Amino acid sequence: MRIGVLTGGGDCPGLNAVIRAAVRKGVGIYGHEFIGFRDGWKGPLENVTMPLGVPEVRGILPRGGTILGSSRTNPFAVEDGLQRITETLRLQGVDALIAIGGEDTLGVATKLHALGVNVIGVPKTIDNDLNATDYTFGFDTAVNIAMEAIDRLHTTAESHHRALIVEVMGRHAGWIALHAGLGGGANVILIPELPFSLERVCAYVESRFQSHYAPIIVVAEGAVPDDGGNAVLEKGLDAFGHARLGGIGDWLAQQIEKHTGKEARTTVLGHIQRGGTPSAFDRVLATRFGLHAIDAVHEGDSGVMVALRGTDIVRVPLAEATASLKLVSPALYAEAEVFFG
Ligand code: F6P
Repeated sequence: MRIGVLTGGGDCPGLNAVIRAAVRKGVGIYGHEFIGFRDGWKGPLENVTMPLGVPEVRGILPRGGTILGSSRTNPFAVEDGLQRITETLRLQGVDALIAIGGEDTLGVATKLHALGVNVIGVPKTIDNDLNATDYTFGFDTAVNIAMEAIDRLHTTAESHHRALIVEVMGRHAGWIALHAGLGGGANVILIPELPFSLERVCAYVESRFQSHYAPIIVVAEGAVPDDGGNAVLEKGLDAFGHARLGGIGDWLAQQIEKHTGKEARTTVLGHIQRGGTPSAFDRVLATRFGLHAIDAVHEGDSGVMVALRGTDIVRVPLAEATASLKLVSPALYAEAEVFFG
């Protein structure tokens, strides 16, 4: 078989581990050949490819990013986009496609499957917000990076008697904020799922200062105040129509200074959370996803995504995989609230 591979959406630590595992097992055990499509859906749309064999995947396990390149190219926004993709796959003699991505990339994969393309999905997002899998790779690395930043910020907060705010990624879901905040001993954690009371945040800040410690506030980029105020700066839309977020951290710092009289500063972690080498957990999870994805292709399966359920890798229908987001529940958030203030 000739198998195409692409990576779409934001880059994520562990993408190369998936590619490596699929190619190593696909070539070494099954005798298949591979072709890489460059830059997400742009590759098959514009027929931009690269060789993808065992030599190309040597040494990439610890490397962040993706050797295939990525983009947020949306074939639905391009005239005859899906037809152009199927035509490229036919021209290149591709029998099956492995699409590694989040909700948007896998949404396109779902439509292609409906058009008769053999496609297997692999879930990827540092946000960990795909419902069909217990964890996505990249999340553990992002949480560890954010937690280390919080550890370091504690010393500046204490030394300068400042409130320090850490803005982390998380457009719809607060998994990174919750885990990094719990692991790093944050005094307040704010997530998109539960609009926050500014008054309560300021009260936590003041009580923390009263106990002669300085507060650390972790805020997800998609968190919003409960008075409906528009604190988040929208920096335009990406190709899938999602707002580019940012600005909640600076807004919070201004409000905290105004209401408490204490100095407040913000650190925005941004793409640092997605960059660099994957953690051991993510390398192993991504490798297992790659191995199971190539098994699925080899067995002639299609229209499914590999997923982690407990400690097992299973296959779920692609349509189900992209149907709903996995959000932080109020009960889970309440566990973290014990440490607020
Ligand atoms: O989708 C994952 C994510 O990390 C979101 O949390 C964030 O809003 C987005 O990527 C930012 O992506 P980009 O830097 O590509 O605009």
